[in-house]
Amino acid sequence: MRILITSALPYVNNVPHLGNIIGCVLSADVFARYCRSRGYDCLYIGGTDEYGTATEIKALEEGVTPKQICDKYYAIHKGIYDWLGISFDIFGRTSTDKHTKLTQEIFLDLHRNGHIIEEETEQLYDEKAGMFLADRYIEGECPHCSYNGARGDQCDKCGKLLHPGELINPLSKVTKTPPIKRKTKHLFIDLPGIEAELAEWVGRASAKGEWSENTTKIARSWLREGLKKRAITRDLKWGVPVPLPGYENKVFYVWFDAPIGYISITANLTDAWKEWWLGAGGGGDAGNDKDVRLYNFIGKDNVPFHAVIFPSTLMGTKKPWTLAHHISTTEFLNYEGGKFSKSRNTGVFGDDAKNTGIAPDAWRYYLLSNRPESADTDFTWNDFSDKNNSELLANLGNLVNRTLVFVKNNFEGKAPEGTMNDADKAFLAQQEKLVKEVTADLEKVKIRDGIHRIMALSKCANKYFQDNLPWELVRKTDKPEQDAENRKRAAAVMAVLVHQVRDLAILAEPYLPFTSAEIFRQLNLPQAKWADIGKPLPADHQLGEPKALFRKIEPKEIDALKAKFAGKNEQKPFSFADLDLEVGEILSVEKHPDAEKLFVEKVRLGDGVRQIVSGLAGHYLAEELVGKKVVIVRNIAPAKLRGVDSEGMLLAAEGREHVPAKVEKGAGMEQDAVEVVFCPESQAGQKVQRMGEKSAPKKTITFKEFGTVKIEVRDFAVVCDGKPLAAEGTVLRMKNIREGVVG
Ligand code: MF3
Ligand code: ZN
Repeated sequence: MRILITSALPYVNNVPHLGNIIGCVLSADVFARYCRSRGYDCLYIGGTDEYGTATEIKALEEGVTPKQICDKYYAIHKGIYDWLGISFDIFGRTSTDKHTKLTQEIFLDLHRNGHIIEEETEQLYDEKAGMFLADRYIEGECPHCSYNGARGDQCDKCGKLLHPGELINPLSKVTKTPPIKRKTKHLFIDLPGIEAELAEWVGRASAKGEWSENTTKIARSWLREGLKKRAITRDLKWGVPVPLPGYENKVFYVWFDAPIGYISITANLTDAWKEWWLGAGGGGDAGNDKDVRLYNFIGKDNVPFHAVIFPSTLMGTKKPWTLAHHISTTEFLNYEGGKFSKSRNTGVFGDDAKNTGIAPDAWRYYLLSNRPESADTDFTWNDFSDKNNSELLANLGNLVNRTLVFVKNNFEGKAPEGTMNDADKAFLAQQEKLVKEVTADLEKVKIRDGIHRIMALSKCANKYFQDNLPWELVRKTDKPEQDAENRKRAAAVMAVLVHQVRDLAILAEPYLPFTSAEIFRQLNLPQAKWADIGKPLPADHQLGEPKALFRKIEPKEIDALKAKFAGKNEQKPFSFADLDLEVGEILSVEKHPDAEKLFVEKVRLGDGVRQIVSGLAGHYLAEELVGKKVVIVRNIAPAKLRGVDSEGMLLAAEGREHVPAKVEKGAGMEQDAVEVVFCPESQAGQKVQRMGEKSAPKKTITFKEFGTVKIEVRDFAVVCDGKPLAAEGTVLRMKNIREGVVG
């Protein structure tokens, strides 16, 4: 039999946090290492999930191509997993030729079998950009909570899933213009037509592969509600092209192609990939050595795709693809009682963990022994250091170190031999039982139970050391005969303990590979495998040099980390580079229908006219503004001010107005005033930047975020961090305000 192991392919476009890591790659790694130690013929497949809107948007934000985004983040993912000792047979990616070919073939098989439905739908279209808009490319006001930056698929404020048609005042994210409705065709997979076969498979596979309760529950609830057809095409460029005429501007939806990545990545590893994936008797039914059992490791939110949709896709091809045998699903890991969040940058991310200088095995140990196997669990810094110090260090580390040091000091580092008494035999029988249980845990993918039992084994060995008092047995007295007898007994005890250390190093290897390798180095033995557990050591064996396995994490260190991460998780201040400023010309100014202090201006920018609402009515007459050049913050989130849309912000300074000596009475005095930042010598469309700098395209920011960038007036000049702002070389200067703040 063969074992094929996959961990969900992480989205490429961000850095994985500890929850993502324990959710699949690390859990699957333990299982893969165990299988290899058992000598099973196995493959462990991983990689990045690269296509889709999220990547396209990230690329837009960073001003690079999707391919460049993927290359950058692929390397980040790989670096983190390498550091953590994740033993992929291949860590691939979905943006490969083989992937495109396989995805298209699977689609064409579905099409040929009548499982693809074509349907015309109405969809939002950006006339200016000449493209249909994917849901996430549309922004507007949330119909539930009125948040203004809601996306066509979801509101980030209230978390509700949305349909782009529900947004109030939708705008295209690409050109910021209102989209229109236009008819277009999309392809759907006919899940209802595959449902009967799927239901039968779920029933069988979940029992046979002992799916966890949460996995089976979610799959059943989908089936109970009845499957519906699902769209598998999207209006994007970054994806697998749809091989049908009329679909030249569309690609497959990322969730259609991503799981096919497991197969295409295998194909990129070995030409013999079909032996694993096609006609391989998937499911372990055949019981011969070519028969493949597929183990999927995923997070809870991925269950519908792995237990329902992807198997349906494969079944619909009517080809003998390998389907999941076991699906190992984790619940969520929380962070200090809250949620890990990519968007809010809350929690510990892979690169953070690496940068703490705490060894990868300490992280592996904590995450695995705290694996959210049947309920959510919590990462806390205190618990992390407690477990490191009181379990890894005080239990396993202590056992290995005191054993090897004792042998070094009392037996010249030679692994002792001796005759066991009944108590030794009883102790070993109990340890053997634990070993059997660990093996059973791992066979059933009970990863967390496995590590707990390994630590129990180590604890028992420590107790055995303690109970047998070897340090007293080697003490010299005035009775040499008794001493010789005692020394023999000490040798027997230490022989048992050295064996225990060796066996523990084998058992712990899937969990703590670096530590295991270090123990074998100190034992001066080659890395042994599962089948060697209980086997004798070579006769007259000279051990290596003992060394501490783990280091204590000091309270001071944890406090510093806590403080650092508390700071990091606060909203990060924005800088000038986050702003997109441009010169605009005011075409018209009207009074706001509902607010005395507000003006509604039409402003011409480089790429068109925008409407902007500003609080200038109390400070200027409309005539004083029309025709003037001003500075507009282009990338501030569109907002409604008292019911009127505003797509940008006009810069004005507030501060002490200097009344020039020559002109008026009260000359030389200063008073509070508001003054628009005018730039008469500049042209609409010119970018405003800090002198000598050039910044890249910007993502949308909120008013609050804008407020964290400090733009000021210093001696009439508009500056940020001391550097003057300019539009193509022309420095922005105020006429009247000498010192003030700009907002
Ligand atoms: N990228 C998805 C996520 O991170 C998982 C994809 S799993 C695959 O949630 F099977 F589709 F590859
Ligand atoms: Zn909302």
